[in-house]
Amino acid sequence: MSFQEQGYQVVPDFVSADQCAALKAQIRALTQDVENDQRSVFTTGPERSSDAYFLTSGDKIRFFWEPGERALNKVGHALHALDPVFANFSTGEDVARVAAALGYREPRVLQSMYIFKRPYVGGEVSAHIDHSFLWTEPMSVCGLWFALDDASLENGCLQVLPGGHRIPVKERFLRSGEGTRFEVFDETPYPEKGWRPLEVPAGTLVVLHGALPHKSGPNESGRPREAYTLHLIEADARYPAENWLQPPALRGFLGFSSSPKPHMKDL
Ligand code: FE2
Repeated sequence: MSFQEQGYQVVPDFVSADQCAALKAQIRALTQDVENDQRSVFTTGPERSSDAYFLTSGDKIRFFWEPGERALNKVGHALHALDPVFANFSTGEDVARVAAALGYREPRVLQSMYIFKRPYVGGEVSAHIDHSFLWTEPMSVCGLWFALDDASLENGCLQVLPGGHRIPVKERFLRSGEGTRFEVFDETPYPEKGWRPLEVPAGTLVVLHGALPHKSGPNESGRPREAYTLHLIEADARYPAENWLQPPALRGFLGFSSSPKPHMKDL
């Protein structure tokens, strides 16, 4: 089944063991002094973070915590632009080739996140589509999810709804005054059945169509489930000022270091 039909694609062995180790070492270097930093709790429940620390993180490297825990949830949202190790990986030839295979004419890396999903405390991420949060007109976002640890149901692997990218968009996340709100187009929840857990080894890339419903459970194991994610958009798509993520200062940083011609029919 192709990416177009199922809305996602699993690409084994995309990140080498050396690259996984380098990204993990770099995030440890970046987070060792984090105790002195400002705190913001990230959760995808009804109290989804909407404070200024979150809302102004589009052009910064900031640290978000599990609710009620002294454990990092994630680091975001401009590792790809501000940190040399993450920038090398994020805008290098391998990722540029994926962008070309997906059909991007002028791809831009809009955001990056390092997700920890710590043993026993890593929380769930509720079902959503990335287009709701990274809205462009026309829709152009794709998620690239790189497994840095082996991911299984027990430690909270990605789960997708195959073909669900054809379901009409249900909601949009917007800036509203000093905070944020959801604009809801369709209140019906995603189906309970039909979800597919993507149990994948470290080094796997999962590509997610911007309209594909996905989610992940909590980490109920003693093993970490770390992942790095990038979101791509098309350079000339309209990027609304109401989007929560506003990285205007990084416009010049968002391109790729090389732009190979499309040469892969599929991923
Ligand atoms: Fe997502």
